[in-house]
Amino acid sequence: MAHPKVTVIGAGNVGATTAQRIAEAGLADVVLVDIVEGLPQGKALDLLEAAPVLGHDMQVTGTNDYADTAGSDVIVVTSGLARQPGMSRDDLLAKNAGIVRSVVSQAAKVSPNAILVIVTNPLDAMCHIAMEASGFPRERVIGMAGVLDTARFRTFIAQELGVSVTNVSAFVLGGHGDTMVPLPRYTTVGGVPVTELIPAARLEELVTRARNGGAEIVALLKTGSAYYAPAAATYQMVDAILGDRHAILPCAAYLQGEYGQKGLFVGVPVQLGRGGIEKIVEIEMTADETAAFGRSAGAVKELVDRLAEMAREAGKAG
Ligand code: APR
Repeated sequence: MAHPKVTVIGAGNVGATTAQRIAEAGLADVVLVDIVEGLPQGKALDLLEAAPVLGHDMQVTGTNDYADTAGSDVIVVTSGLARQPGMSRDDLLAKNAGIVRSVVSQAAKVSPNAILVIVTNPLDAMCHIAMEASGFPRERVIGMAGVLDTARFRTFIAQELGVSVTNVSAFVLGGHGDTMVPLPRYTTVGGVPVTELIPAARLEELVTRARNGGAEIVALLKTGSAYYAPAAATYQMVDAILGDRHAILPCAAYLQGEYGQKGLFVGVPVQLGRGGIEKIVEIEMTADETAAFGRSAGAVKELVDRLAEMAREAGKAG
């Protein structure tokens, strides 16, 4: 049987590391795409030459041509720019929106049945662009955010209690990063609610650290941002899809009335399988949690509205 095919757009840190995980796990053949000539080809060849040592038979190829991505089962989008000194948030938003729109429309055309996994930031806004540019239904446009945010939160809880990370199961909702909404009462350690194990004030410190997890790594690296954990999180989503696992993972999904939101991508628990999003899992929230979720959705809406405004301005200028 032919291997599944995954296209990873953007052969930078997150893209190349995601490609590595997918190939080395024997999950799928991988096509790496980038705008820079030679970069995806070089990294793909390097990954392929690791295969005999690791003992997998996945194909890894690099290209600058979307024709080579045709018939992909999953398309992971990591292409984009990092914020440069002197660049405003709006500049970054506009630049990455342009990149995501261009790559998604080219890739979707030749893989009309693919599932899109969006990683480029600002995540929730980029999911909107990807859905628009592909014309795909919401089941097949999914943003990677919550798996990474919960992974950070789980790491800090496990460190705090000196237990295995595999015993910690965490629950977050909302936008990626700053506006994420962790739900401590649904966060458990070996089945025990974390609220029974860590005092509220200390737990709040861990929440804050998880919320600023991306910034903490940028501050250490100085040039560039996190990529090992983002790639691992992306891998888990691709594995849930291709393995038809029906796995419940926190992802950015397009809400159509769930959680009281309509027409917005926000982080919620979803069930992932071969068709993409099989179900959006809704839970009861307290008044405080509902308010925090509403603020988070509001922050996403602000960016989406700003994108629409910029498109109108560009239309007028043109
Ligand atoms: N088409 C294809 N690739 C592109 C395009 C384009 N139009 N524009 C930029 N790229 C490529 C760059 O050439 C680069 O190789 O995207 C890659 C981005 O890689 P890095 O700069 O290493 O960024 P990375 O750390 O991988 O992060 C990528 O993921 O987590 C998010 O915030 C992060 O938005 C960022 C994205």
